[in-house]
Amino acid sequence: MRTPAIVVNFKAYPEAMGPKALAVAKIAAEIANRTGASIVVAPAATDVARIAHEVRIPVFAQHVDAVEAGARTGWLPPEAALEAGAAGTLLNHSERKIPMKNLQAIIPRCEALGLEVVGCADDLAEAESIARLGPEYVAIEPPELIGGDVSVTRAKPEVVSGAVARIRKVNPRVEVLCGAGVRTAKDVARAIELGTVGVLLASGVVKAKDPKKALADLARGLR
Ligand code: G3P
Repeated sequence: MRTPAIVVNFKAYPEAMGPKALAVAKIAAEIANRTGASIVVAPAATDVARIAHEVRIPVFAQHVDAVEAGARTGWLPPEAALEAGAAGTLLNHSERKIPMKNLQAIIPRCEALGLEVVGCADDLAEAESIARLGPEYVAIEPPELIGGDVSVTRAKPEVVSGAVARIRKVNPRVEVLCGAGVRTAKDVARAIELGTVGVLLASGVVKAKDPKKALADLARGLR
């Protein structure tokens, strides 16, 4: 993923499911192509393959399981995400937590397959623990701010800058993203001022009245 970047997490929002997911992904690709902004989309697992086929921006899975490929009905090994065209995956999002022992297994497997990993952390201690496992990125996202109207960069800037400092100390190779309540170009610019390489967001785009206008504004914050 080229940084600084905006990662749009489609979650399981009906506004970004099936054909609507493709529509939001095409908006993201259009804005990325027009402005040069680095935008990544993370659709639901069932939409990854179609979107990865249709757009030329990175598509990330929202989750993969710490299982080998094979007789694993209903599981999603990292190989399946790779075959679907994913460039990477979120892991351990606050809405889809993964036990640390599973993260210890899955992160190296993703790295070996060439899947970039954004390890999500609720707090500074978890951010440090995940950074030690060597993902490309750690995204700090205080759960209580997710889906709200106040950006983490305004409500808890010290958590963002603290995550940058502490992650840099335990593993300087890991870059930091932040998320929760990010809705404006100012929130994005502030995230970068605080030392991150971008943001992870969802409702500010997926649930916006005009997702194209919302994402175009957010992209201005990357400049
Ligand atoms: O993965 C990012 C997400 O949890 C942030 O949600 O709606 O506050 O942008 P939102």
